[in-house]
Amino acid sequence: MSRSTKIEIGKQKPEMLKELWPGQYEVFSHFEYVSGVPQVLFLVTTLKANGKPNVCFHSWSSFYGDVGGYYAVMGGMGMYTHTYQNILREKEFCIGFISPEYYDGCIKTISENSEDADEFEVGGFTIEPSRTVKCPRIKEAFLSFECTLQSATDLSGKGICALVVGQVQLAAVEENNHELGKICGKDGFMFNVHSPKSAVSGEGQTTAVAILDPVRIMNE
Ligand SMILES: Cc1cc2nc3c(=O)[nH]c(=O)nc-3n(C[C@H](O)[C@H](O)[C@H](O)COP(=O)(O)O)c2cc1C
Repeated sequence: MSRSTKIEIGKQKPEMLKELWPGQYEVFSHFEYVSGVPQVLFLVTTLKANGKPNVCFHSWSSFYGDVGGYYAVMGGMGMYTHTYQNILREKEFCIGFISPEYYDGCIKTISENSEDADEFEVGGFTIEPSRTVKCPRIKEAFLSFECTLQSATDLSGKGICALVVGQVQLAAVEENNHELGKICGKDGFMFNVHSPKSAVSGEGQTTAVAILDPVRIMNE
């Protein structure tokens, strides 16, 4: 396939990218929109100061480890979120990967997230006790990580978003989690395609939830 013309974009936000909501290009870099990098979606569970469980829909992240440890590297955690404050206070959190059928429940935890709310109840999720941390896991998750806080860094220094790294202490994995059809299918991981915009005109305001589609299958 021949590639189409490439547009180069620098650190300065291009003029053609217009704000669709106030502060859009403060919370998100313009690179976010012109790059369109899909990010895996999951839920972060924490405990509020009053002991009630908090559930947060999350994306901007990656996962990696070596013999020294396995890490949840959450590159974009809003410093204004309850989740960030809960993690700093409790020094622990859980991650739960859920399939796209739970999307609506995930969204509910955003609008109904007062201090008094039990966000498992709000989102229609079931509490599953953790083994190594106090905050609960999500029973509906096909894969969960129990994590302890390793570090929190304000990458841009603007007090907006933090890079939160957690060390995985325990993984709870469904039996069929290794099956390609499961990982890539509608019962597997969901991805956030966050409002990609044309680098030429700035147009584009469609966000999508996506699943994987394998194009080549190799055996070790
Ligand atoms: C699809 C989607 C992905 C999101 N990803 C993130 C994310 O990666 N980081 C973040 O800070 N907020 C993210 N949010 C926003 C949080 O879910 C939202 O701010 C939430 O209310 C925070 O909850 P809390 O205050 O209980 O922690 C996302 C929202 C949606 C709809």
